[in-house]
Amino acid sequence: MRVLVVGGGGREHALVWKIRQSPKVSQIYCAPGNGGIQEIAQCVDIAAQDIDKLLEFALTEKIDLTVVGPEVPLALGIVDKFREKGLRIFGPSQKAAEIEGSKAFAKNLMAKYHIPTAQYRVFTDVEKAKDYIRELGVPCVVKADGLAAGKGVMVCFELEEALTAVEEILVDNKFGQAGSQVIVEEYLEGEEVSILAFTDGKNIVPMVSAQDHKRVFDNDQGPNTGGMGAYSPAPVYTSQVQKLVETEILQSTVQAMEKEGRPFQGVLYAGLMLTSKGPKVLEFNARFGDPETQVVLPRLKTDLVEIIEAVLDRKLDTVKIEWSSQAAVCVVLASAGYPGPYEKGKVITGIDKKIPGTYVFHAGTKLKEGRLITDGGRVLGVTALGDNLPEAINNAYNGVKMIDFSGMHYRRDIGKKAIR
Ligand code: AMP
Ligand code: GLY
Repeated sequence: MRVLVVGGGGREHALVWKIRQSPKVSQIYCAPGNGGIQEIAQCVDIAAQDIDKLLEFALTEKIDLTVVGPEVPLALGIVDKFREKGLRIFGPSQKAAEIEGSKAFAKNLMAKYHIPTAQYRVFTDVEKAKDYIRELGVPCVVKADGLAAGKGVMVCFELEEALTAVEEILVDNKFGQAGSQVIVEEYLEGEEVSILAFTDGKNIVPMVSAQDHKRVFDNDQGPNTGGMGAYSPAPVYTSQVQKLVETEILQSTVQAMEKEGRPFQGVLYAGLMLTSKGPKVLEFNARFGDPETQVVLPRLKTDLVEIIEAVLDRKLDTVKIEWSSQAAVCVVLASAGYPGPYEKGKVITGIDKKIPGTYVFHAGTKLKEGRLITDGGRVLGVTALGDNLPEAINNAYNGVKMIDFSGMHYRRDIGKKAIR
């Protein structure tokens, strides 16, 4: 089987690494890939958003299966366009991907089908939004409706902050079209957990739980990032919580999407807050999470291609998906300045030393004249397995010690929350 993976971050490196272990796979391509993916797949110089070129490539190269990593091509309808040409592709249709692409759509869906989430309202009028904020009080959360690369959410503890946030979104157009609507919602307190689930549109199979670390500095300080690290499993996700999430959230959402004429096939990612009143949805994503995928896939024992095929054939109930009982921890190594402006092109050293059970997934790297250099804000994800979380943490940080590049920074407390 000839496989194409779309994307070029740590998530896609983990996907390529896992997919190529399948005995069904003869050739694997990645567009655009990165300096690490290049070692295990043939990278193709096509951007993840360039759907026409990807389609042309898939047709010419007779790709049997395409797997989409990022949200943007999904929101642009890559799945529909590939299917129109008879190509097999893993991910939700454009209409189904709206569960991530429009927070207003996701919130209205949850309200309609009684799926637990924060109280909210959607606005296009700035004064009405402000009135609601004053009524709700602080803390509250202000969100741009559309895709904003993780930057469209403002958790506000001061009234002024919240009023400014809606002003920036609706009047100053800080997020462009993504900010044509604003969602103002109740602030939820609790522990966050990410649950990714395979779904064929009817059946769901949740993956093992994971938790990511969104803030840039230790103890959850500093601005939000794309994710500075993750661990799996999340001990707060007890079997009792799991049951609730599976029935009241995942199952209900998949059924709701079907009823709305938007059957969801692919990976449904629920970002949850475990509140004192039970688990509530913060957001849905229509894809694998990053960095969560980097800790979830190393624990997957089953052939990922077999699972993907079962999803596409709507036979997910016929595969037995098995997970390792080991824990996994991923520490992200970032460029100086990230998540703000940063420089690229720093030489990366120490990465060739291989430690069994430790995987270095590349995010922003590139090979230049035989040397590996930095090429993004998040550069590498050092992932390690261990018999328990403390051991996995230890192993991951031992892996981190080997690697260096100018200005490299990372959090030193990944996973600590889980063993407190
Ligand atoms: P989202 O992209 O919607 O998941 O939001 C990004 C982050 O903002 C989440 O991971 C939470 O840490 C925080 N957040 C979002 N919504 C809420 C909420 N209603 N209450 C508290 N924190 C929130
Ligand atoms: N880790 C958050 C995300 O993938 O959106």
